[in-house]
Amino acid sequence: MSASDLIANLEKLGDEFLQLIQPLGDEQTIRAAQAQFLGKKGKVSEVMRELSKLAPADRPLVGAAVNKVKQTIEERVTERLGELASAAARADLARVVDVTLPPHPAPAGHLHLLTQVRLEAVQIFSELGFVVADGPQIETDWHTFEALAIPKEHPARDMQDTFYVSDEIVLRTHTSPVQVRTMQLTPPPIRIVAPGVVYRRDDDPTHSPMFTQIEGLAVDVDISFADLKGVLLHFVKRFFARDLAIRLRPSYFPFVEPGAEVDMQCSFCMGAAPAVASCRVCKGTGFVEIGGCGMVDPEVFAHVKIDAEKYTGFAFGMGLERMAMLRHGVNDIKFYYEGDVRFLEQF
Ligand code: PHE
Repeated sequence: MSASDLIANLEKLGDEFLQLIQPLGDEQTIRAAQAQFLGKKGKVSEVMRELSKLAPADRPLVGAAVNKVKQTIEERVTERLGELASAAARADLARVVDVTLPPHPAPAGHLHLLTQVRLEAVQIFSELGFVVADGPQIETDWHTFEALAIPKEHPARDMQDTFYVSDEIVLRTHTSPVQVRTMQLTPPPIRIVAPGVVYRRDDDPTHSPMFTQIEGLAVDVDISFADLKGVLLHFVKRFFARDLAIRLRPSYFPFVEPGAEVDMQCSFCMGAAPAVASCRVCKGTGFVEIGGCGMVDPEVFAHVKIDAEKYTGFAFGMGLERMAMLRHGVNDIKFYYEGDVRFLEQF
């Protein structure tokens, strides 16, 4: 056989193999077909045996053609086996995963109850024209006490057992120092609320060493106690979405005069007899305390250089854990801070 006949034969073998392998659907038969062509007694090997009969000059050409057909066959085998493997994997997947089913929704978190309550309180006050003010949690003794008419040996300091950082620096025990900072910076008219974390050496089911207050301050000409009461009443009604009453009980805070404790009608029993007697929240009184308030004391105005002859102001401070507790029935302040998802998920 001539060199060109051999080359033509080899090309035909290549084509023949491609035809042969096309319908084969498993590795075993594909490997058998491969052996039929490339094995020791295979069709390609047969052609190779003819090589020795050729003139030496013709051998390289035919040799190259042999290599080419070998390569074609091997490549096609690898390719075909790969196709079969991925088809099998797809079939497997379709058997265990129904890709047409809707996915499980990814669990998404939400704002912490206290954050929700804080934002809501700010929203309600902002509708009345108050803007948010802020101050440091690590505060000077002067802003926390002195400027609020609570000098060093004043007994009112005991009302708020303080964490001292140094002689002159404390963890703020209330948000009232933000009143001082605001009045130092801004001339009246002032209408601010200051929500934030405060610290006291207190720890039991209703007290935590760290808790949240919201402070309010309004300073302007002709601000009256009636304005204070109106703002607090509006807040309570909006926050609890109920027509609840409030009660301002005369009380003493050195930085307000007159001062009062803010009580609201118990949102649990609504102060209604006979339930009221057994109500665990208000202990049968029909009212619960939610904060303190009063008219800004002229001594405070003097510290921040606001003219007490021209301006008057009111201030209030409320506990946000308390508000959330009264609205949602949270009976231990620890729940807010432990991060137990079973608790948090409910809000
Ligand atoms: N700062 C007071 C407290 O934490 C509350 C208060 C604020 C009272 C403003 C009067 C006016 O107890």
